[in-house]
Amino acid sequence: MEQPNWSQVDLIREAFHYQSRFSGTTMVFKVDFPLTEDAGFSYFMKDIALLSQIGIRVVIVPGAKEWIDSVLSEYNIQTGYAGPLRITTAEAMPFVNMAAFNVATKFITGLSASRVNAVIGSFVKARGLGVVNGIDMAHTGMMDKILTDALKPILERGMVPILPCIGWSSSGKPYNIPSDEIALEVSKALHAVKLFIVSAEKGITSPEYSIPESIHTDEQGRLIRLTPQEAEGILKANQFETNKEDISLVELQLALKASKAGIERIHIIDGKQDGAILRELFSNLGVGTMVYADEYESIRPLGIEDIPDVLRLMEPLMKQGILIRRSHEDIQEKKDDYMVFEIDSSVYACAAMHDWGEGQAEIAAIATDPAYSDLRMGRRLVRYLIDKARRQKFRRVFVLTTSTHDWFELLGFRESSVDKLPSRKRAHYDTNRNSKIFALDL
Ligand SMILES: CC(C)(COP(=O)(O)OP(=O)(O)OC[C@H]1O[C@@H](n2cnc3c(N)ncnc32)[C@H](O)[C@@H]1OP(=O)(O)O)[C@@H](O)C(=O)NCCC(=O)NCCS
Repeated sequence: MEQPNWSQVDLIREAFHYQSRFSGTTMVFKVDFPLTEDAGFSYFMKDIALLSQIGIRVVIVPGAKEWIDSVLSEYNIQTGYAGPLRITTAEAMPFVNMAAFNVATKFITGLSASRVNAVIGSFVKARGLGVVNGIDMAHTGMMDKILTDALKPILERGMVPILPCIGWSSSGKPYNIPSDEIALEVSKALHAVKLFIVSAEKGITSPEYSIPESIHTDEQGRLIRLTPQEAEGILKANQFETNKEDISLVELQLALKASKAGIERIHIIDGKQDGAILRELFSNLGVGTMVYADEYESIRPLGIEDIPDVLRLMEPLMKQGILIRRSHEDIQEKKDDYMVFEIDSSVYACAAMHDWGEGQAEIAAIATDPAYSDLRMGRRLVRYLIDKARRQKFRRVFVLTTSTHDWFELLGFRESSVDKLPSRKRAHYDTNRNSKIFALDL
């Protein structure tokens, strides 16, 4: 048998690592209708099936707007719009129903090809909108609630629930509901760790859209990560209020709403890119735009007055030889390299990042108060520093550690060697201490 090369082995390791991290979590996929007519749709569905097969609880919310429009026009049924909402008349409703279920069936077909079972069901309880500004919205409804008791057993059995854009009232009357609303509510109700907005659009890129200068884009003008505040800034800069037809802005607004509703990570991806979901999920930089709740709000630069607190945190670790000894003066000299984690004006963790040249930075001096381990401060500080290194265009971060290598490995670092260190650091390397070197390419 042909031997896999090392990069393949690394890839397999990475895949297993992510599998264990995501297995058992719930992810919601809101998928734009035009993608179901794309040549790559069957491959896209294979990737979704794969996620279900590795134990991720997958929920699909298909968008159907364009298909409903075309069915209604084929049957010559006129419906108006009130803002972004279709006015679903009694005459139109059976056709809306038919079109919505047609689209949902396409997903079942895609999943069945990979032997993953899916269920289309009445998981949405709805209410009629009634008369809004004098307009009778008829069968256009709004969410009442997601029927989680019906959804959970399906997910537990490894099946994929599909939620078309229809909900039913207590008396069994069907209503047309925007799929964005369903995606948001089902993500909340099931405590999804991620909501994917799989778009048929290219997304918000510079220079097509105005992007405030403080927001980082990659070389292709792609927005990689956004805090809710940054997402808000982009909506404002592009006058979302008057540009409500712009699908990419509407999608960003959905992501923002989801983030404010407590969904940790929302990914907007271009579904036409081959393997977009896997690449977004299983690589650090991804291919889309991620909106994430600001997990860094408690992290700030070190002030001179914090040094005694930092030394207090480090002392037991320095005693045990886990951290190298640093004095007040050592820390003061490198003050700008340090960040602290603060809660209610007290410092509970610290970490530093030192620039050693050659595009490499060392992450060091991580110390956390063990009484607050629930807060995951160590991880949050390291992620913060990785993001900072990326923004400052470092190509690699590394750590020297005697006993924490397993933890760094969990955060994506891989074992490296002394000869890969920048030359200035190599000259300082203490062979007696013989620390392991772990690194992460950015
Ligand atoms: C390592 C350290 C920074 C982690 O901080 P934290 O805020 O507890 O980190 P997180 O919450 O992100 O991680 C906790 C997880 O890592 C694990 N972990 C902690 N230290 C570990 C170590 N040395 N090796 C392997 N895993 C470790 C914990 O068991 C826990 O696992 P769980 O998620 O299964 O419960 C912290 O324990 C610490 O201050 N250690 C001493 C100093 C040190 O080693 N610094 C790094 C050298 S620069």
